[in-house]
Amino acid sequence: MSAYETLTVETQNRVGIITLNRPRALNALNSKLATELGRAATELDNTSNIGCLVLTGSDRAFAAGADIKEMADKSVYDMTANNPFAGLEEFGRVKKPIVAAIAGYALGGGCELAMMCDVLLAADNAVFGQPEINLGVIPGLGGTQRLSRAVGPALAADLVLTGRNMDAEEALRAGLVSRVVPAAQLRSEAMSVAGMIAAKSLPVIIAAKAALRAAQETTLAEGLRYEQRTFTSLFALDDQKEGMAAFRDKRAPDFQNR
Ligand code: HXC
Repeated sequence: MSAYETLTVETQNRVGIITLNRPRALNALNSKLATELGRAATELDNTSNIGCLVLTGSDRAFAAGADIKEMADKSVYDMTANNPFAGLEEFGRVKKPIVAAIAGYALGGGCELAMMCDVLLAADNAVFGQPEINLGVIPGLGGTQRLSRAVGPALAADLVLTGRNMDAEEALRAGLVSRVVPAAQLRSEAMSVAGMIAAKSLPVIIAAKAALRAAQETTLAEGLRYEQRTFTSLFALDDQKEGMAAFRDKRAPDFQNR
């Protein structure tokens, strides 16, 4: 794996772990981090013996948002022609599932980055919010769109318009995260979830992620057609034959495409 300045990458069994590492800025997303995150995630996406990624930060901060100090003096031209967050678009194109393990602050771009992942796990000290309104801007990495879909338009408006924070329990009740665990167990919980995912057939996992994404991006009718086409196409895989034969034989499946 390549070396990075703003994050670390490890692999463990079939899981690739990216840890954001700008502790003095609470993992604020600057252009370097965005670029490196896109590269690191793409590298893991293209590594054949990796089935799932984990994205995490520190105990204090998953990420406290886009780097305000880097952004403050930029012009419209800078933000468009030289989009500092282009690397995050690359991150958003990763085909393998990504488990976000979120402790501490996940604010602004940090909350938006978490929502770009597939399974969101929170430590009990996690804090979510879209405080951009307090900076004279609005969310710009999906905070008005993905948050509305994740928690519904009423709570999304409450958060985006007031800029208030939400704790882990409220995030769980709202459906933004699927589990809350004690902070000390966050990493092991994330590794366990990622390990379960990585043990499945890789093409099937990738197909499942793409179909789940379709639910966010298309109408119900188009999403149902997408799902049905994908479901049918999976009958071309040895792993479908193996999965169903294993059920019939009352044994664990031994998927080949991993
Ligand atoms: C740059 C940041 C930062 C950020 C924290 N730091 N968040 N630097 N950008 N988003 C830096 C602080 O300046 C400080 O550095 C150090 O990290 C520690 O932060 P403190 O504020 O001293 O810590 P604390 O008092 O514990 O407060 C934590 C905090 C606060 C509540 C998270 O830092 C905060 O409000 N941060 C900004 C959160 C935010 O507004 N995020 C949205 C950004 S806009 P120094 O060197 O001063 O000690 C955004 C837009 C996304 O995300 C869309 C883009 C397209």
